[in-house]
Amino acid sequence: DRSLKIAPSILAADFANFGAECRAVEDQGADWVHIDVMDGHFVPNLTFGPPMVKALRPHVRTVLDVHLMIAPVDPYIDAFAEAGADIITAHVEAGPHIHRTLQAIRGAGCKAGVALNPGTPASAVEHVLDLIDLICVMTVNPGFGGQSFIPLESKVATLREMIGDREVHIEIDGGVTPDTAPGLVAAGADVLVAGSAVFKGGSAESPGPYGANMRAI
Ligand code: DX5
Ligand code: ZN
Repeated sequence: DRSLKIAPSILAADFANFGAECRAVEDQGADWVHIDVMDGHFVPNLTFGPPMVKALRPHVRTVLDVHLMIAPVDPYIDAFAEAGADIITAHVEAGPHIHRTLQAIRGAGCKAGVALNPGTPASAVEHVLDLIDLICVMTVNPGFGGQSFIPLESKVATLREMIGDREVHIEIDGGVTPDTAPGLVAAGADVLVAGSAVFKGGSAESPGPYGANMRAI
């Protein structure tokens, strides 16, 4: 399904109200919920672990899209799968054995994603295309929300061509706004993660901006 999907990143939500924030964005039309897991090692920031995904699961009706910015990845795959992740994405830069990691994610019953940092070429995923359901193209250096967009539309187009007729989503993560979205979709992206653009200025009590911004994207 290549229709455009919006995946709000709860990294930009109210950390004291994740359940309500997720319900609010879903009510406003969010297709997936994106969870940014950071370990203070692979990236210079700390966020959530499997217990948080488990706690959130009953509050999310849609797809739980779990983006692991951690190294190593393999020891935590089963815990995130058991916590209720639908998609687990690992970084190709996080270790020497991305092929094994992707096999393990599917083995745990989840859809498998592979993420590429801005400096990593499209060719890094060439030999795992049959093991994945999603490629996450980072358009910021991972670690923080609210950074400015790095234009990588040509990488997106290269990946879309490499994917051919396989059923693989191309997800964009970082600096997505109503201004940057159209060029990304034209290049072949079908899932747009958005943190600041969706949650900024909104709250669970007055979720107006969520829907407005998602529709604008
Ligand atoms: C960066 C995260 C992104 C980020 C996107 O490490 O993976 O998901 O939260 O946030 P915005 O949309 O604010 O750039
Ligand atoms: Zn992310």
